[in-house]
Amino acid sequence: MTTSRPILLGVNIDHAATLRQARYRGAHQSPHAEPDVVAFTRDALAGGADGITLHLREDRRHIQDADVHAIAAIPGIRLNLEMACTSAMTSFALQLRPAAVCLVPESREEVTTEGGLDVAGQLARVRETTQALKSAGIEVSLFIGPDAPQIEAAVAVGAPVIELHTGAFANAWKSPAAEAELARLRVACEQAHRLGLIVNAGHGINYDNIRAILTLPHLHELNIGHSIVARALFTGIRGAVSEMKSHLTQKA
Ligand code: PXP
Repeated sequence: MTTSRPILLGVNIDHAATLRQARYRGAHQSPHAEPDVVAFTRDALAGGADGITLHLREDRRHIQDADVHAIAAIPGIRLNLEMACTSAMTSFALQLRPAAVCLVPESREEVTTEGGLDVAGQLARVRETTQALKSAGIEVSLFIGPDAPQIEAAVAVGAPVIELHTGAFANAWKSPAAEAELARLRVACEQAHRLGLIVNAGHGINYDNIRAILTLPHLHELNIGHSIVARALFTGIRGAVSEMKSHLTQKA
């Protein structure tokens, strides 16, 4: 199916912080700390990123609180904060007020077999968080596997957006299982769209498998991190983003 407007590109910059933390754990605010994730973000935006995604993990293994605040202050940025469904992170988000929050699993008991958030298994908790964030004008997305019960649960808790976990497809890419994984994603896109949800997707998308991802219907935004950051080591982040963006705009 062709779309009338380009699918948006959210660039996940977590792994720029991973690289910094590999050397500067505990010293990320040192004047010597590199790479500078704010400068990296600015260059990703200059390359055509429609939004910036980052995950403030409870273990702070890559992105730090100071990174989130500095990046959120970039004028005009559309920030998508990935976070666990906890009261501490909800308070953080309510103070920060990013454009969007994507609820993701961090602890084992929150994860479905797909690796997405088990919304169906914790309806009350996800509903409470979703409603609190929505009341503050934050767009809420749930990172879920391409499973009918999870999509129905997303509707039940009042989330306007889902992000479909493309990890199983990405892992199967170029194997006989890839077609079946893509078919599951297609069915999930159709179901979610029918139920009135905005459909995003992400995890493991790269410059090769993007061709297959772009055959999926009703996609609004793709969140891509690792592959773009890896390519940036060769081309710079501006070129890496602009190359991925050209795939998305050619599709439109
Ligand atoms: N979407 C979500 C919800 C994520 O947690 C991540 C990072 O794991 C991504 C997208 C980006 O995945 P990748 O870095 O594999 O492109």
